[in-house]
Amino acid sequence: MISTLNNAPIGVFDSGVGGLTVYREIRKLMPFENIIYFGDTMRVPYGNKSEENIKLFAMEISEFLVSRGVKMIVVACNTVSSIALELIKNKTKLPVVGVIKPGVDAAIARTKNKAIIVIGTRATINSHSYLNEIKTRGDFSVVEKACPLFVPLVEENFIEHKATALIAETYLGEFRKSIYDTIILGCTHYPLLKKVIEKTLKDINIVDSSQTCAKYVKKMLDDLTLASRSKKNGWSDFYVSDKPQNFMELAYRFAGVKICKINIKKF
Ligand code: DGL
Repeated sequence: MISTLNNAPIGVFDSGVGGLTVYREIRKLMPFENIIYFGDTMRVPYGNKSEENIKLFAMEISEFLVSRGVKMIVVACNTVSSIALELIKNKTKLPVVGVIKPGVDAAIARTKNKAIIVIGTRATINSHSYLNEIKTRGDFSVVEKACPLFVPLVEENFIEHKATALIAETYLGEFRKSIYDTIILGCTHYPLLKKVIEKTLKDINIVDSSQTCAKYVKKMLDDLTLASRSKKNGWSDFYVSDKPQNFMELAYRFAGVKICKINIKKF
């Protein structure tokens, strides 16, 4: 039986624009789905905030998405996935997908030396969410490193800047030519720094969980028979909590997403 939920939108959220990389992959893989994207641009960054506040923000946004009639919640933010995924799951009957498991799956499939570097915000690294998930899969060497300066560098479009290369060297130089052959980019901003990370670490497998996450979303919708039955391209609605001057530009740079209309939702 086709439930009325089939044509309901998927709710995707992040602390800001970074989650648009996940949005883009979902859109590519599932063109017929409707999507509501929320970016908490007023309160970004989450990465240096307390667990208490990250949980509060996550609940407010989830409740907002539920009130918009979504059929699934995708937490397209590593920090929220690390700190508040279980809380969101416990508070809603809807299926909830985060980015940690998909990232770990991809890393485990690629590492030959069973040695993985995880980089992320302070909150993500301090939560050990990736380490704990990797440990459930077997015996792997894991090193975790917070790289808090990467987020503002990306926001400032310092992608190719020598300051970014220097900071990447400071954070990651010690792992060059080490046993670690795979690195998980455990933050939505970091995929933009792929080139500089590759240059710093030379031969390394770089895992960006956005594609794996989109595959998870598709599989879960299929398993739950919740996928859209429409044969028309789906619509997308974008919400932010504050409209920064450069939001459109950042959205385009992050995800190649051209946004024509943005709605404001304040808490
Ligand atoms: N979205 C966050 C994450 O993936 C990065 C930006 C922030 O600190 O809010 O961890």
